[in-house]
Amino acid sequence: MSNPIRVAVTGAAGQIAYSILFRIASGQLFGKDRPVHLNLLEIPPAMNAVAGVAMELEDCAFPTLAGITLTDQAEVAFDGINWALLIGSRPRGPGMERADLIKINGPIFVGQGKALNRSASDVRIMVVGNPCNSNCLIAMNNSDVPNDRFSAMMRLDQNRAKALLATKSNNPVTAISNLAVWGNHSNKQYPDFENARINGRPVTEVITDLPWLQTTFVTTVQERGADIIKARGLSSAASAANAALDHVTSLFQPTADKDWISAAICSNGAYGADAGLICGLPVRTRADGTQEIVEGLTLSPWAQGQFNTVLDELRAEREVVKDLLK
Ligand code: NAD
Ligand code: LMR
Repeated sequence: MSNPIRVAVTGAAGQIAYSILFRIASGQLFGKDRPVHLNLLEIPPAMNAVAGVAMELEDCAFPTLAGITLTDQAEVAFDGINWALLIGSRPRGPGMERADLIKINGPIFVGQGKALNRSASDVRIMVVGNPCNSNCLIAMNNSDVPNDRFSAMMRLDQNRAKALLATKSNNPVTAISNLAVWGNHSNKQYPDFENARINGRPVTEVITDLPWLQTTFVTTVQERGADIIKARGLSSAASAANAALDHVTSLFQPTADKDWISAAICSNGAYGADAGLICGLPVRTRADGTQEIVEGLTLSPWAQGQFNTVLDELRAEREVVKDLLK
């Protein structure tokens, strides 16, 4: 077996972590031949709870679990790590929008951004804690780690959108490709059905009900997080953990030919998204494991309007956190 890959997970006593940690430790994410060392970060009042999670991880006797470090210090958690999964932060409750969390959760990512300077030189960072685009922006701006290592999770939105299109068109989810969710992980996000495909054909040729696509489809994806909170009393957890695994996998595995995935990465100015914003865009992973934004896609004036609205929201969030940006 090779050297352990070192993975930091923040919010390790929380509900998403409780779903993701066992799947990482089992070898599902990085492979059955790659040992994993987990650095679990929590706040002091949750250290007992995270010790319990660690006991359960040990009790699984996973052959790939090389070790666990428990800490309430970001500098310890991020020392020498190859991956940082930044989940720890407060979830919203019923009636809240994700942006309502920005004042509570944003400051967490200042210190964590600085502490990421202790990571290994190949570190990759995924932000899940909401509002994840702006939290990622804060971490990136407070860190010396190159901007192209940072991403925020739009994958749950992509998975939700794919599942809906599959059901509506009576196809398996594997038939749906080229699905990008543009902008912010918020209720203004734009799930792009115009460039998505079903069995290689444009979605709009297969599902000809344009009003359904423009209204029911878009709003169902936009509001899915809130609908789950309303139903469960708690925000999505197992599906979020699953999407986080998909997101990380898609950042180290080359994207299938002609397909793309949804991720919020640092914009280079493409499609009018301000350079430096953490924006949901169509993304491909190259053979060398680096990412590129898929350029040259066409958005109808209606879709461009949707994207402009969510871009304005991202700009407004950036304004709210401007004092937290170095
Ligand atoms: P949770 O309340 O169950 O767990 C959060 C954990 O984070 C808690 O154990 C808490 O003690 C810990 N924490 C708080 N501040 C911390 C800090 N500074 N350092 C380390 N740990 C800290 O919440 P959850 O359901 O696991 O959700 C976590 C976050 O993920 C929320 O902000 C939620 O809104 C977000 N989320 C995002 C997506 C997405 O698609 N991007 C999906 C689902 C949930
Ligand atoms: C989700 O999309 O399920 C999460 O971001 C949780 C939320 O607050 O909606």
